[in-house]
Amino acid sequence: MPYAHITGWGMAAPEAVLTNDDISKMVETSDTWIRERTGIRERRIARDSDLTSTLGVEASIKALKVANLRPTELGLIICATSTPDYMFPATACLIQDQLGATKAGAFDLMAACSGFIYALNMAAQAIRSGSIKSALVVGSETLSRYVNWKDRNTCILFGDGAGAFVLQGSEKPGGVLSAVMHSDGSGGDLLTLPVGGSRYSATRSASQNGRQYIEMDGKEVFRFATRVMASATQEALDAAGLTVDDIQWIVPHQANIRIIEAAARGLKLPMDRFVVNLDRYGNTSTASIPIAMVESLEKGQIKPGDKIVMVGFGGGLTWGALAAEWTGPIPSKGHVRPEQYRALGRVRSIVRRALRFIEGLLYRREL
Ligand code: COA
Repeated sequence: MPYAHITGWGMAAPEAVLTNDDISKMVETSDTWIRERTGIRERRIARDSDLTSTLGVEASIKALKVANLRPTELGLIICATSTPDYMFPATACLIQDQLGATKAGAFDLMAACSGFIYALNMAAQAIRSGSIKSALVVGSETLSRYVNWKDRNTCILFGDGAGAFVLQGSEKPGGVLSAVMHSDGSGGDLLTLPVGGSRYSATRSASQNGRQYIEMDGKEVFRFATRVMASATQEALDAAGLTVDDIQWIVPHQANIRIIEAAARGLKLPMDRFVVNLDRYGNTSTASIPIAMVESLEKGQIKPGDKIVMVGFGGGLTWGALAAEWTGPIPSKGHVRPEQYRALGRVRSIVRRALRFIEGLLYRREL
């Protein structure tokens, strides 16, 4: 059975920075309050032209470049997101088209902020089963579009961004070692985005009812998160036959520094074993773990051979953790330029549409 290695990584962060001071001009809050209660200093905000798909594509191209893999070699694309471009088509399909990943299946995965862990696990399982050789997992969000900028309980927390991993199969041991996934729908009301679904469809009543924004019971989510971060990490370690002493880094969902500190206490680990960058990005939901990973790799913190645990929680309620042995890119010949595939994307899309039209005509004649 092949092993699923993470061989490429990339991130995209919108340029615009919104500081705590900026927010204190919108609602009654302060930089001090936000920093002390959350650890967040600033977050990125998508431009009008940035979409969940375009941020995802930017991160994906970087990840493919690191892996030195052509988009056409991908067998699967999973986009974990809570803020897709549309209800359908899946944002993963938009990413597939823009990348020119013509042989990949593509779907979105919605498990709120745990989505990236879930998606990584699904992609790794598909590789380990032998059904595909390589996959792209994207976590991308434009949460700022759904934040109520008059609600100080939520607007201080969230930011926009994207991260992507390439996974490849190899007979060499390592890569994803174990994963656990959990859910508890009885807590679904604690963190919701009601608009767009069948209960509050955009055509019916969402905006009239004021349900078009993220809604959260912060205290309850906080309590839940502090409980599950340490337990999920421990479960993933047990499943991999490891102990906390075997791992070099924990990469947690970047929601609140106090939640990460509670996890550290629960695992009896010092904070310097946790990758933290929420001070500069806030909570970017499915993008938070890959963005933290990419920054940590670029700083040279995580090195080949290191064992790590990624752990997340979110709306649903959902939570999960994944243990991996870090390998880095598989040595390969040639020099792939995935950005060229994107440059040709528009033309390719038009050609494919034309071919589909002709195929349709021919098929009709056969009937
Ligand atoms: N600025 C100033 N005061 C604020 C404030 C803000 N932005 N937000 C809330 N307050 C006030 C509250 O109104 C409350 O005032 P009161 O005591 O007069 O009623 C007081 O501060 C304490 O509020 P509380 O909700 O107890 O604060 P907290 O320490 O729990 O922090 C969160 C609030 C939202 C930061 C925290 O609960 C949290 O991070 N929860 C988890 C959220 C999360 O991670 N969500 C995403 C999951 S993927």
